[in-house]
Amino acid sequence: MKIYPILFMTCYSCMFLISNSNGRTVPDSSIPPVRAVNLGGWLVAEGWIKPSLFQGIPNSDFLDGTGVQFKSVTVGKYLCAESGGGTVIVANRSSASGWETFSLWRINERTFNFRVFNRKFVGINGIDTVALADAPGQTETFEIQRNPDDLNRVRIKAPNGFFLQAKTEDLVTADYEGSNGGWGDDNPSIFLLTISGRMQGEYQLTNGYGPNLAPQVMQEHWSTFIVEEDFNFIKKNGLNTVRIPVGWWIASDPSPPKPYVAGSLQALDNAFSWAQKYGIKVIVDLHAAPGSQNGWEHSSSRDGSQEWGLTDDSIEETVLVIDFLTARYASSPSLFAVELINEPLSPGVSLENLSKYYRGAYDAVRKYSETVYVVLSNRLGPSEPTELFGLANGFTKSAIDVHYYNLYSSIFDNMSVQQNIDYVYNNRSAQLTQITTSNGPLIFVGEWVAEWQVRGAAKEDYQRYAAAQLEVFGRASFGWAYWTLRNVNNIWSLEWMINNGYLQL
Ligand SMILES: *[C@@H]1O[C@H](CO)[C@@H](O)[C@H](O)[C@H]1NC(C)=O
Ligand SMILES: *[C@@H]1O[C@H](CO)[C@@H](O)[C@H](O)[C@H]1NC(C)=O
Ligand SMILES: *[C@@H]1O[C@H](CO)[C@@H](O)[C@H](O)[C@H]1NC(C)=O
Ligand SMILES: *[C@@H]1O[C@H](CO)[C@@H](O)[C@H](O)[C@H]1NC(C)=O
Repeated sequence: MKIYPILFMTCYSCMFLISNSNGRTVPDSSIPPVRAVNLGGWLVAEGWIKPSLFQGIPNSDFLDGTGVQFKSVTVGKYLCAESGGGTVIVANRSSASGWETFSLWRINERTFNFRVFNRKFVGINGIDTVALADAPGQTETFEIQRNPDDLNRVRIKAPNGFFLQAKTEDLVTADYEGSNGGWGDDNPSIFLLTISGRMQGEYQLTNGYGPNLAPQVMQEHWSTFIVEEDFNFIKKNGLNTVRIPVGWWIASDPSPPKPYVAGSLQALDNAFSWAQKYGIKVIVDLHAAPGSQNGWEHSSSRDGSQEWGLTDDSIEETVLVIDFLTARYASSPSLFAVELINEPLSPGVSLENLSKYYRGAYDAVRKYSETVYVVLSNRLGPSEPTELFGLANGFTKSAIDVHYYNLYSSIFDNMSVQQNIDYVYNNRSAQLTQITTSNGPLIFVGEWVAEWQVRGAAKEDYQRYAAAQLEVFGRASFGWAYWTLRNVNNIWSLEWMINNGYLQL
């Protein structure tokens, strides 16, 4: 195995670029390139990183964003929001996909709203079942009752006290009385439940535990998942920076809006003091913006929808979050960069609205600091990797964040170990070169991992793959950050990778 670190620091720091006061970038050897690890799953929870967090949630099958489908036992067809919503609920579809999937909003462990494909909510109008409401109220609140002997047989109790029943394929009404019909196939109020998708983010976690239990669970998580010793470990292993994902609600700590709970700001304060003690820089990364900028659990989407950027209000609110964070930490010698938003998703987030946000948030940072870097995340989804260059060239000390995973695309499905490694040396390297210009913004590979689609790879395969990425991403003008420090999935845990000799810095 090759060992690179010393060579890297001297060789590539001479290529490091910073912006001068004209907004042009010039070579500068005075700042070290970022060698960072993400503190993922800490201040913005992600269930796949730490599944145990979710284990104590009452009725944990039914969290916000869970996709449910209902097949009538008498009609033998799935419930469907006709036209995707805006009209009646029918029971005439023989297979289930978008219009037949209802996304839960959890009110408490027993009652729920059902959001349909076009974002309306299921409700009752008299005894008719419809999907008309833009926001849920009393007439949109249902109870799901499960057969204790067969959890996939359910009844849905409507807000009028009656149960939904599929009378015919075109008629679903809220007028089935009582609970004495049994759970059999002759009962029109019985539906077979399929869970088609789940989300496990901060929203699901805090709303799942609810206001009585969530504060204690979150306090425990924040004070144990990342601790002072981690900063010692990071320093000892030759890293110089942490990228810390935070959620928008941190700006209203200690009284964040429901269901979020107080305390993540204290945890971030702790991180800054540990960072200072161990000489580590911090990139504060707004990972979850109000309404969600990509619909994923890691941006704390409630139900898979992306609503950030659709209104000026969501943009202004988010600028205030950046303003708050920069004001709070600008005087810390550890604050190295503020990343304005993570992974906005195209086409839902338009370039125009994102640019408007970036301009406002950039100005907010500069109110407090001329020296802190401002990181702009490229959009995921259909987008050009250089689409933010025009904007960034008007900024001083800016960087563009790109995320390079050999995952999440079918092009990696059947790649061998060597093909993955070649892809890093040839294709990633070419992509990086394409966006690295002498007068453009700095480039930050803000997320990467030594995971791939290869199954059953040997330790030595991982070592070569990790070393290839370290070499190529080591050329990124701003630096890189591994995703993530700690994760139950070993390859995704930099701590495990280092301790077990899979990755050498
Ligand atoms: C389902 O029922 C609705 C309402 O009667 C009707 O418009 C639609 O065409 C039906 N669809 C199928 C697949 O039968
Ligand atoms: C951009 O924001 C405006 C409000 O300023 C909104 O009307 C528009 O729909 C947004 N565009 C997109 C694609 O979200
Ligand atoms: C990967 O290989 C499998 C099995 O040979 C094949 O069915 C599939 O189409 C391949 N996927 C891609 C993206 O090439
Ligand atoms: C990687 O780059 C090579 C050489 O430019 C090209 O032939 C190949 O198609 C690229 N691979 C993928 C998966 O894009």
